[in-house]
Amino acid sequence: MTQRVKVAVFPVAGRGTRFLPVTKASPKEMLPIVDKPLIQYAVDEALSAGADTLIFITGSSKRAIEDHFDSNPELEAVLQAQGKQDLLDTLRGILPSWASCVYIRQPAPLGLGHAVLCAQPVVGDAPFMVHLADDLIDAKVPCLKQMVDVFDQHQVSVLGVQNVPKQDTDRYGIVSLERSVAPRIGKMSHIVEKPKPDKAASTLAVVGRYLLTSAIFEDLSKIGKGAGGEIQLTDGIARLMQRQPVYSYEFEGKRYDCGSKLGYLQATVEYGLKHPNLGPEFAHYLRTLVPKLP
Ligand code: UTP
Repeated sequence: MTQRVKVAVFPVAGRGTRFLPVTKASPKEMLPIVDKPLIQYAVDEALSAGADTLIFITGSSKRAIEDHFDSNPELEAVLQAQGKQDLLDTLRGILPSWASCVYIRQPAPLGLGHAVLCAQPVVGDAPFMVHLADDLIDAKVPCLKQMVDVFDQHQVSVLGVQNVPKQDTDRYGIVSLERSVAPRIGKMSHIVEKPKPDKAASTLAVVGRYLLTSAIFEDLSKIGKGAGGEIQLTDGIARLMQRQPVYSYEFEGKRYDCGSKLGYLQATVEYGLKHPNLGPEFAHYLRTLVPKLP
């Protein structure tokens, strides 16, 4: 039977320590890129890939995410009274009425694999997307939509991958391929979490986009702590691969690692330059800075 992907899981329960002190009381996922928080880019991408049920795995200090996707009648009344229709439309457009949000609390940040396992009671037997909001991907066709197209054709789990510099392999799950299936698509033979550059079998790294069959839950419930003392999604996928094919997909698009300060600044500058109203003035400002760069 052909299965459709309608559910997206957003694990947002991490501590975000690389952004302290800003993440002490506010979620990393609410950091703005120009005027939209990272989590809204994530939700927009999942909706345009066909999701209608959005599951957020939240933790302490993450209430702002729920408020962002809820209505705010008081603020709407103020904007209405002030005649600010464009802002009102922006607020009301944050989430379409046909999309449902579900919030599940991860009791402690025990790892990404544990966070995904928390979604099982709502996901059930359906295939589902996992989106890490701090990996922002700018693409003509949204990355998850590209991956859903691969799933629709092959009906197997698909991981979004990208080649990374050799010296950075210890920051990612690194995959090796058994064979090529089609351009950009490979059948995976191994996946290893954060291997040292001299131990890494390739430079193909998983970067925050997953499309998984529900079989992964059984694997996640059986694995213990892995790298960094956390329950790793990578270890669950390695186990899943022993009983089901898992494909890697080299997506088209530019990815910004907004979990790091440098990646976040790069995304801010590039999205600022592309912004329809701000772009030209911002470009002018940047040009005045260039001669002064050290
Ligand atoms: P990261 O590895 O980026 O960790 O998690 P982090 O805690 O967010 O940030 P740093 O490294 O301390 O700066 C990858 C994704 O998995 C989620 C995070 O919210 C992030 O989206 N996550 C991680 C959870 O939801 N729960 C966890 O237990 C761990």
